[in-house]
Amino acid sequence: MKVLGIESSCDETAASVVEHGRALSNIVASQHEVHARFGGVVPELASRRHVEVIIPVIEQALAQAKTSWEEIDAIAVTSAPGLLGALLVGISVAKSLALARNLPLIGVNHLEAHLNAPFLEQPDFPHPYVGLVVSGGHTSLYHVKDFGDYHLLGATRDDAAGEAFDKAAILLGLGYPGGPRIDALSKQGNARAFRFTKPKFSDSNFDFSFSGYKTAVRLLYQKAEETGLVDEKFKADLAASFQQALVDFLTERLMSAAQMLGAKGVVLSGGVAANRTLREQVKLEAEKNNFRFVVPAMNLCTDNAAMIAYVGEQYLKRGKRSDFSLGATANQEIGL
Ligand code: KG4
Ligand code: ZN
Repeated sequence: MKVLGIESSCDETAASVVEHGRALSNIVASQHEVHARFGGVVPELASRRHVEVIIPVIEQALAQAKTSWEEIDAIAVTSAPGLLGALLVGISVAKSLALARNLPLIGVNHLEAHLNAPFLEQPDFPHPYVGLVVSGGHTSLYHVKDFGDYHLLGATRDDAAGEAFDKAAILLGLGYPGGPRIDALSKQGNARAFRFTKPKFSDSNFDFSFSGYKTAVRLLYQKAEETGLVDEKFKADLAASFQQALVDFLTERLMSAAQMLGAKGVVLSGGVAANRTLREQVKLEAEKNNFRFVVPAMNLCTDNAAMIAYVGEQYLKRGKRSDFSLGATANQEIGL
């Protein structure tokens, strides 16, 4: 069974062909250069760029997979959550193709796709596991008992972790997107140069909050500016300390949830899971606590269509499909 996946929920236009849970192709056209000068994603510009590139992206995905249209069995597309206009581009194209080729159409939740991305590389990963989806739009922790059986343990109450990375990077004058830039600069800084206060939650609460970290970066930067202390070393130290504080917070929450629920494994996914310090720290802690650990390869952590096609194929196997009334939904949590 070959499923074509299409993703256009934010600022990446992506297409992929997945067969038996394996990606045969993974094409991603990023729009970072379109939005960089605005310091964030401009929804209307995102939609327009999706319209321009989506057909070539799909053609490339088929070519890379050495697959003809006749071999495609279904079309999976991200239908929620995301930017409405951006989602609608992918959905409209997916519907048109499904109608023209008489193929089943499957609407996929982007969060469910991030949560299942690790299975593209490790199909035998055990359930139950605790999964952290940590991206530019979400920071959500789930208990996953089986495919499709998700329970939301906690989510961010303000900014998403990736958003905090992006905003801190702007404060430090690093530009957009901030996560990879803070990741790179942190390698030259002292991660213990500045201390951040961790938000307080009760032991049984797995919510997150990041706005305090962002405010702390702003205040530290302003103070240093006033006293003429801003130089390259200061910036690297502040970036490294901020990153370490977020990584400590995320790792601690993920591990304590896994321990409390007696999970077999821990999973990290979403754009921020591309962060090297986070990957290393969670891996180390998982080994210490005897949890199986999986984090997708970098190109499967950030937005991609392989994870969409993967979930689509799973649903198709279970006899689920969408009808042509499929629409875009801006906000849609899973596991509530
Ligand atoms: O999953 P994703 O591609 O899109 C959303 O669904 O949001 O995640 C994008 C986010 C951005 O905020 C970006 O700054 C962050 O992931 N990110 C990183 C790294 N690479 C991407 N954050 C920290 N370290 C990284 N290496
Ligand atoms: Zn995403």
